Amino acid sequence: MRLRSIRGTALTAALCVLASAQLAHPALAAPGNPGEPRYSAGAASIGDPYFPAQGNGGFDVKHYDVSFAYDPATKLMDATTTITATATQDLDRFNLDFRGPEITGLNVDKHKASFQRDGQELVVTPRPKLKSGKSFTVVVKYAGTPPVITDPDDSIEGWVPTDDGAFVPGEPQGAPAWIPSSDHPTDKATFTFHATVPEGITAVGNGQLLSQTTKNGQTTFVWDSTEPMATYLATVTLGKFQVAKSTTPGGIPIYTAVDPALASQSAATVAKIPDIIEYFNSLFGPYPFASAGAIIDRAPNVGYALESQTKPIFSSAPSLSTMAHEIAHQWFGDSVSVKRWSDIWLNEGFATYAQWLWTEHNGGATAQQTFDSTSNYGRAATSAFWQTVTADPGTMDMFGNVPYNRGAMTLHALRGKIGDTAFFKLIKDWASTHKYGNASTADFISEAERISGKDLKSFFDVWLYQKGKPTTW
Ligand code: ARG
Ligand code: ZN
Repeated sequence: MRLRSIRGTALTAALCVLASAQLAHPALAAPGNPGEPRYSAGAASIGDPYFPAQGNGGFDVKHYDVSFAYDPATKLMDATTTITATATQDLDRFNLDFRGPEITGLNVDKHKASFQRDGQELVVTPRPKLKSGKSFTVVVKYAGTPPVITDPDDSIEGWVPTDDGAFVPGEPQGAPAWIPSSDHPTDKATFTFHATVPEGITAVGNGQLLSQTTKNGQTTFVWDSTEPMATYLATVTLGKFQVAKSTTPGGIPIYTAVDPALASQSAATVAKIPDIIEYFNSLFGPYPFASAGAIIDRAPNVGYALESQTKPIFSSAPSLSTMAHEIAHQWFGDSVSVKRWSDIWLNEGFATYAQWLWTEHNGGATAQQTFDSTSNYGRAATSAFWQTVTADPGTMDMFGNVPYNRGAMTLHALRGKIGDTAFFKLIKDWASTHKYGNASTADFISEAERISGKDLKSFFDVWLYQKGKPTTW
């Protein structure tokens, strides 16, 4: 770490010398000279049609250090985020995604940088410029009230104040409400959070609790998310919580934070977390992260749960089935993430199918019975349900029934088509091959064909790409 920054400084100094040499002898910097830097602006977008403002080009984020103080009484945040990134082209400008409050300072590698804001785009002009391959840091200071973000389907996320703190879900576009970031699932990074809140409030973040210290009526929680994480899975949710710690039989530490008003309703579900993780370990391969847990809060205006990495967040007391869904997402969604948002069935269909499997394992309806039910294949062929394309539902329906239920039906039908042995091998393989990475529907189809040895083009066409109720496959 230390060595690297010393080398970084030496490199910066060398670049400054080079840059002034070029100014003195412009002919040396003739464009196209091999080895000469060719600076340009990083792309303002990663190019995902569902959310065209998301993500940025020209660099790759490695780590976010998000440090803030927040007071639920005033809803004011005072924050400093340090981004460590590597340039992937010679950059004279780059963008971040940010919808948070006023920026009070922005440095790139200790040098004050000029910036402009345009909607979600935060356009940064680093000087000196950044050469491809260079590791650099961006320090953004900001203060004010982070916003609630509203999605195309009218659901809300971002920074959502509650009675006693804030509920912080980020899918699909909430992270820039409070973190200047490259907000697309394909730019994963590790995260450290330092959250300072009034004594009595607990700040619960992704990953492991490194420290909790109280001074002058303020408590600082330091959370470390040590495996790569998509920005939308970041949370530091704040409130008055009952905290409990345990471990899975396999030794994964579990940290649960439950709103006291929901404690008795949630107790039986929370008690099952180790069993759910163990069951999914047996189906999907080892739990992918260093810790596990859950945050159960009261955020009635949110009304959904989210698979925040290592600690899913629930806006009300969850059913056992919803808990199983969010835990399954740790493998499918969090560890293996989508390449494009149109692939969302790879998250929701898998988590929903895992729910069916858990329910059967736990003595409830079999997966076949759930498949056949009137919420699923039992729906009339005339139902509007069958008119959304599973593998491209659009931003209005990406969290609607189709990616979840038709997605899960697709997996159950595939299991019938290729048999249990190939199916469960495929699912385990999928989790291990793409661990901490990104994958697409096309990747899944080719792996299903490879592992089963079957031509599945028309199967997947019927289930994923065509409208209408499948009849033969
Ligand atoms: N992925 C979440 C789940 O577990 C749902 C997120 C919904 N987000 C939203 N903005 N509506 O199913
Ligand atoms: Zn889900």
